[in-house]
This record gives sequence, C-alpha cells and structure tokens, in this order.
Amino acid sequence: MRVGILISGRGSNMLALADAVREGRAPGAQVALVLSDKPQAAGLERASERGIETAVVERRGLTREGHEGEVVRRLRASGVELVCLAGYMRLLSPCFLDEFRGRVLNIHPSLLPAFPGLDAQRQAVEHGVRFSGCTVHFVDETLDGGPIITQRVVHVSDSDTPDTLAARILREEHAAYPEALALVCSGRYEVLGRRVVRS
Ligand code: GAR
Repeated sequence: MRVGILISGRGSNMLALADAVREGRAPGAQVALVLSDKPQAAGLERASERGIETAVVERRGLTREGHEGEVVRRLRASGVELVCLAGYMRLLSPCFLDEFRGRVLNIHPSLLPAFPGLDAQRQAVEHGVRFSGCTVHFVDETLDGGPIITQRVVHVSDSDTPDTLAARILREEHAAYPEALALVCSGRYEVLGRRVVRS
C-alpha cells in the first residue's frame, strides 16, 4: 500500500508513521510521498533526511479546487493509494475524498466527537474534562467526524495548560497512528455505518 502523508508543519506524526513503516510495524505499507501546502514546514526536511520523496503544493494563487486538484495529481504521480493527514491544516472537499474514497485517515488531538476543529487541547482544558486523548479516523465530508479507527486516552490534571496537555497527547498520537495504519493496511476491518469493526 503506497502511502502519501500530508503535513503543514512540524511533522512529528509523519515521522512516527515513517519510522513504523521502516521498522516493519505496518506490514505492506510504504511511504511514497510527503506533501505539504507550506514550503517552510519543518517536516519536509525531516522526511528528506530519511530519503523520503517530498513535494510542496502551495495554495497561494490557486482556487481551493485548483489546489486540491494539484495535490491529487501529485499524489497520483507517486502512485499513492492511501492518504494520511498528519497535521494538515486544510479541510478536504468532497472532490478530493471521491478520489480516495475510504482511503483518507486523519489524526486529531481529542477524544472525538468531543472537541473537533481547531485548538482541541485548549478546548479540553477550558471545558474542564478529566480525560482527553487522540483519535485516528477515516475522513469524510464532516469536520473530524468520520468513522473512528482507534483512540488513546490521557489524564488531564488541574495544572495542565493547553501546551502540557498537547505534549502528553502527542506521545499517544505517535503510538496510535502507526497502529491505525497497520490495521488499515492489513485490511482486517469492516466499516459498518459509523463503526470500524475488526475482522
Ligand atoms: C497533532 O497534534 C495533530 O493531532 C494535530 O496537529 C498536530 C500536528 O503535529 N492535528 C489537528 O489538530 C487536526 N485537526 P505534527 O505536525 O507534529 O504531527
């Protein structure tokens, strides 16, 4: 399964996926391309250092459809079959999702359906929840709303700030995303309505 990873920034989840693939923890997966909408994304250099092909498709000067079309074209040119969003800070339109139906994964730093959207860790701290975590899910047309593949839980303490909570959640993200990728590459699951059931 040729995997394309979309990033916009630091790329730590991208590295967690790439390391898992290299170490054989996601059998059948191969990272074909790391693509960013931001030329300055730190993750690009980190991917290149590992010998992974990278690409930049900036939004500037393009319509949303034009930008997505170009991203799809670039992914297709690298033979990508499965797309992992890893801190890619853009919403994907139905046109993009039609191209990779059921083959787009995302990681989100909360226990969805709680706290979708931006600043999930701040939302969790301000809401006063005692537990938060991360979710890996299939992407559909809804905001952070597609079928859930896996989740990991962390405790939220009284002294947490959005930053300390984000750091604790990030450690779990780095374990959750490779696990989800391994499951999807194994094909040992079915999506029944909203539920991802292991088979
Ligand atoms: C991660 O915490 C990821 O869950 C979050 O952005 C961060 C990217 O970090 N994604 C979202 O909030 C998407 N709604 P990374 O670039 O180091 O992987």
